[in-house]
Amino acid sequence: MILVTGGAGYIGSHACLELLLAGHEVLVLDNLCNSSRRALERVEQLAGRTLQFVKGDVRNRSLLTALFAAYPVSAVMHFAGLKAVGESVREPLRYYETNVSGSIALCQAMAEAGIFKLVFSSSATVYGESAMMPITEHCPTGVPTNPYGQSKLMAESVLRGLANSDPRWSIGLLRYFNPIGAHESGLIGEDPNGTPNNLLPYMLQVAVGRRRELSVYGDDYPTPDGTGVRDYIHVVDLVQGHLKALERLEQVNGVSVWNLGTGKGYSVKEMIGAFEAVIGRPLPHVIQPRRAGDIAQCWSDPTKAAIELGWRAERDLSTMLADAWRWQSRNPQGYAETQPARQGATAQTALAS
Ligand code: NAD
Ligand code: UD1
Repeated sequence: MILVTGGAGYIGSHACLELLLAGHEVLVLDNLCNSSRRALERVEQLAGRTLQFVKGDVRNRSLLTALFAAYPVSAVMHFAGLKAVGESVREPLRYYETNVSGSIALCQAMAEAGIFKLVFSSSATVYGESAMMPITEHCPTGVPTNPYGQSKLMAESVLRGLANSDPRWSIGLLRYFNPIGAHESGLIGEDPNGTPNNLLPYMLQVAVGRRRELSVYGDDYPTPDGTGVRDYIHVVDLVQGHLKALERLEQVNGVSVWNLGTGKGYSVKEMIGAFEAVIGRPLPHVIQPRRAGDIAQCWSDPTKAAIELGWRAERDLSTMLADAWRWQSRNPQGYAETQPARQGATAQTALAS
């Protein structure tokens, strides 16, 4: 059985689905601070199987200990965390506590229970403003400009120290580039709270009429068309990389770092053009000054994951945008207004706190 922390969230819900489809038993621990139970009901509907759900906090050591005593967990995918960059600047301690202390509590409980396989959600943000493009895993980590990025780098350091101290650990640090898209069914997808920070969720909300226009943050970057360039990756490709990493951790010990990206960068203007082609109409947008803390460009070299995991992202940009649009247009208010796919299907245990 795989414990998926943060399994009700955007990436975690897609991971649960792929795990169930691959035949794994799944236990989700999520406090639902940024997600909905409906996501898990939809996952069960799509998989045709159930999972176990415990509502609780990853910082809660005694809950984790109880979970590991009650379920035959063999490995953990650790998605639970906070991810809003601006909020992290205003509330740094909450970010360090959840993203760093939460990871420490999880590892303490895992070690106590004799579980040593961990897949950790890191981010390309740990590279900072890299001088080298594309970014390989050998590029030095940089100095993240915000507590969110710092918390990911700190958690990575904690996990390295841990693996150095005890050879039983087998830890995958997965550095995500820019996950977008949704499962092709349109039943699960990204449902941000409040005003979206990221490009695609904002574009989607403009397209469904929830927001007036997209702000393009800067068109004076040293990039071909002046707008920021990123490596967008389909969330289903991303989570398939997690399953490959999990398999690999059966064979290697210590810490392994893998970039999860496509190796191709697109500018904001290219994103707008490709999205307009999907929705068949113009997307209202206006050029604004640069956003503080943004870098000009960032894309991956995904070769290491291809060689070591036998994994490559397969879905192209138009598929990512079409899948994202299917989700958003069928669920304009995300999980809020729509009917649950199936009532009461998800088992919730008495351990829930
Ligand atoms: P998300 O907010 O949709 O999912 C995170 C989940 O964790 C949510 O369901 C939330 O309720 C849960 N959670 C938060 N704090 C918790 C706590 N203390 N205890 C238990 N559950 C808690 O975010 P996501 O986009 O699915 O991201 C998943 C992970 O990947 C995060 O760690 C994030 O930092 C990392 N990541 C995301 C991106 C991205 O662009 N989405 C990029 C790089 C890294
Ligand atoms: C951001 C975070 C990063 C985090 C990642 C995933 C910042 C500075 N960085 O990365 O730490 O790991 O999200 O959560 O917030 N853009 C617009 N208009 C918008 C939104 C974005 O023009 O409304 C542009 C940005 O300037 C950038 C590109 O679109 O060039 C992508 O932005 P975004 O989706 O926020 O991702 P990152 O900035 O790469």
